[in-house]
Amino acid sequence: MANTEDRFKKIIAHCKEYGFIFQSSEIYDGLSAVYDYGQNGAELKNNIKDYWWKSMVQYHEDIVGIDAAIFMHPAVWKASGHVDAFNDPLIDNKDSKKRYRADVLIEEHVAKLEEKIEKEVRKAEKRFGDTFDEAMFRKTNPRVLANIEKIADINKRFVKALEADRLGEIKALIEELGIACPVSGSRNWTDVRQFNLMFSSQMGSLNDGASQVYLRPETAQGIFVNYLNVQKTGRKKLPFGIAQIGKAFRNEIVARQFVFRMREFEQMEMQFFVRPGEEKEWYEYWKEERMKWHLALGIPTKHFRVHEHEKLAHYANAAVDIEFEFPFGFRELEGVHSRTDFDLGAHQKHSGKKLQYFDPETNESYVPYVVETSIGLDRMFLAIVSHAYNEETLEDGSQRVVMNITPALAPIKVAVLPLMKKDGLPEKGREIFDTLKYDFLCQYEDKDAIGRRYRRQDAIGTPYCITIDHQTLEDNTVTIRERDTMQQERIPVEKISSIVADRIRLRP
Ligand code: GAP
Repeated sequence: MANTEDRFKKIIAHCKEYGFIFQSSEIYDGLSAVYDYGQNGAELKNNIKDYWWKSMVQYHEDIVGIDAAIFMHPAVWKASGHVDAFNDPLIDNKDSKKRYRADVLIEEHVAKLEEKIEKEVRKAEKRFGDTFDEAMFRKTNPRVLANIEKIADINKRFVKALEADRLGEIKALIEELGIACPVSGSRNWTDVRQFNLMFSSQMGSLNDGASQVYLRPETAQGIFVNYLNVQKTGRKKLPFGIAQIGKAFRNEIVARQFVFRMREFEQMEMQFFVRPGEEKEWYEYWKEERMKWHLALGIPTKHFRVHEHEKLAHYANAAVDIEFEFPFGFRELEGVHSRTDFDLGAHQKHSGKKLQYFDPETNESYVPYVVETSIGLDRMFLAIVSHAYNEETLEDGSQRVVMNITPALAPIKVAVLPLMKKDGLPEKGREIFDTLKYDFLCQYEDKDAIGRRYRRQDAIGTPYCITIDHQTLEDNTVTIRERDTMQQERIPVEKISSIVADRIRLRP
């Protein structure tokens, strides 16, 4: 397949052409970093949500789901630290007038050094062949060691400057590393300044002294402020979890890479409340559990990697990113964070309401600790479609584009296709469609040659096509065509539903 940039462009074009994702307000030239999901995208998105919700809420007896409002009392965001600290360090290039995140510029520079190391290793591997000892080479090669040292030094200086909010030092680092603007090529930078990522608005009429409200930048706070409501009304004992799916909003400065980084997006988050001291154990548990969830989708392990954070957010005592190999490289897909009692403690302090749990086993009251799993629904969507998109050359030399989406997540499960538009085949097709539609989302199509209809279904990832032919009218059997292998088999009409149900079942 073409190079990765090309492949990514093709995936974006395919998403538009086949009704998965459209640019928001496209007829007005679009709104940057905001996207709409089309008829197939909305189905795929709903199926991902359903898989997540079932895995969390239905398969875990100790987790319940809620749906909190997007608007919350402004004091929530003060307590959570978002008003004061949910910032990105920004820098502008004076020549191109382009704005960048200073941390991203530095990360990209580090990524280039990492690439150099990998190139060095691959070169040596070729040179030494079977006798190559990679671990030893990484430990001893002077060029590799020099770059490792450079990376460690940059990271250390950057983290220290950011933590102490010494923005001048970050600018100095960018200048010292010789980082140039990718557009103008110049090193003519402004000072670095902090930019808060929350969108704000006014609630109530301005004349009555309206209060400033924020569009939530994460769904988690809706869970924290409801923790006691759920614990009491659900008579929950620790450990237990609360799950939620909902919109979040961030005024991202560098919003690009399609639905990877958006200004309006959806999160699927779960907060697991545990006894203080047991959080590390649960952190390990959820790390493993979430990887299993991803791997159950059939995407090979090599496309995932985990990245333990060295620099921890002020509220965490451990954090890991589950990274996925997107067409533009490995990037964060999901985070698992051990958030201590930071959030509940802060809400207890700011609201003046006790948020403690009385533990009947130890006869003690305490603020629970929290382990959080947080995944972006849109990023999950992008991970699935970018892995599923495949261009194939078939045996007869023809080409097809197929979306090998895990059948359980595919937008349409079954296409019902009469071979011809005559001889009573459409009527029989309609009859089958009208029965199957109660079990699965199906599509009926009788226009164009059957081969073209198969291609259209392949392109949206439909796992099964049912074809009605003349034999169907004689013995009530149809052919069922499997998307990936294109194999067809003959099955009785009354078994279609149970066969499809069996084949699309998904369990983490
Ligand atoms: N409650 C924790 C939290 O919000 P985060 O790492 O800031 O943590 C969690 O976000 C997940 O949300 C990320 O792993 C990513 O999948 C998704 N996400 C964050 N910002 C996003 C954006 N601008 N566009 C799309 N997804 C985003």
